[in-house]
Amino acid sequence: MPDESVFEGLNTTYPVLEYPADNPNNAAAASLGERLFFDPILSVDSSISCGSCHKPELGFATNDRVTPGVGGVLGKRNSPSLLNVGFQPYFMREGGVPSLEMQVLVPLGDATEMAHNVVDAVRRLNRNTGYRNEFLTVYGDTASAFLLVRALANFERTLVDFDAPFDHFIQGDATALSNEAIKGGKLFYGKAACVQCHSGVLLTDFGFANNGTAIVDSTDYGRELLTNESSDRYVFKVPSLRKVQITAPYMHDGSVSTLADVVEQYNTGGTNHSYTDSRIEPLGLSVSEKAQLVAFLEAL
Ligand code: HEC
Ligand code: HEC
Repeated sequence: MPDESVFEGLNTTYPVLEYPADNPNNAAAASLGERLFFDPILSVDSSISCGSCHKPELGFATNDRVTPGVGGVLGKRNSPSLLNVGFQPYFMREGGVPSLEMQVLVPLGDATEMAHNVVDAVRRLNRNTGYRNEFLTVYGDTASAFLLVRALANFERTLVDFDAPFDHFIQGDATALSNEAIKGGKLFYGKAACVQCHSGVLLTDFGFANNGTAIVDSTDYGRELLTNESSDRYVFKVPSLRKVQITAPYMHDGSVSTLADVVEQYNTGGTNHSYTDSRIEPLGLSVSEKAQLVAFLEAL
């Protein structure tokens, strides 16, 4: 039984993964999707794969500030972790893509990512005997845009990870977290009030906010790009904090290098600009409290 008493304000309910009716849970499809995810065949010059920017050993993120696409062209945004991505209600940092299936078309076509298009990518898969046969075996049909995005999304939904020290601790193993991390957790749910946005076992409420990160690229308007509302300028999706110990650097633009820097930024109430959410306030944490908060983040 989850123990809610230590971290007051933490909802310990684990979410249930939902599959869309037109892409049911299917191990063979997920395994085809996994092969496609790590195969550069999908990029225009067969040079990079989804896995080039979403590396398993780095929580399906990378340690680059922004990731180079085909030809080394740099995008504007930091590659997010895809762990537990199947639980997200919408995708991208402005929340503009409603399903994992649709999201596949974004990197496939983006000039700073795979610089390809789905029609040609599918043609290429069908010219490849191995893929042609695998699609026939799994779906009883040759590759198509419809099936390609479903196989990839089916694989992405398998990236469930609830095995962090944090999980063991809230499920009752009192030894799973160090005393330092427990104190940090109490700050997270108490004095530092991180739970206002980073709630539940996914450590996000899937809301949108500006958390006081410095505006480095003033042309990346964030959620305003989607809504055209000036109140959404520089507002980004609240990310899950799972595996943040291995997904540095941080924020939509990768502009914050370490977890200690993240905590320092929150402690000062963010960099000084008017877009910062009203819930972000100077925290007045001591040196040891800041270290405790980092220890907690490292256990997620
Ligand atoms: C060149 C690097 C690169 C490649 C290649 C790439 N991605 Fe990404 N991916 C990113 C970046 C950067 C973002 C964040 C974009 C944004 O929010 O605007 C992202 C975002 C995502 C998201 C949204 C996650 C979220 O939290 O909203 C998913 C899902 C995803 N990628 C899956 C894929 C799949 C599947 C492929 C292959 C078909 C792929 N990516 C290829 C860099 C890449
Ligand atoms: C008002 C909502 C809000 C509060 C409160 C908040 N955050 Fe965040 N947090 C965000 C948003 C939004 C982002 C993403 C910002 C961006 O992409 O530029 C973020 C990003 C982060 C990241 C980087 C994650 C990544 O993968 O890039 C960490 C770590 C983090 N927050 C930890 C904390 C901690 C620790 C606290 C408490 C001291 C806290 N947050 C309080 C909204 C919030």
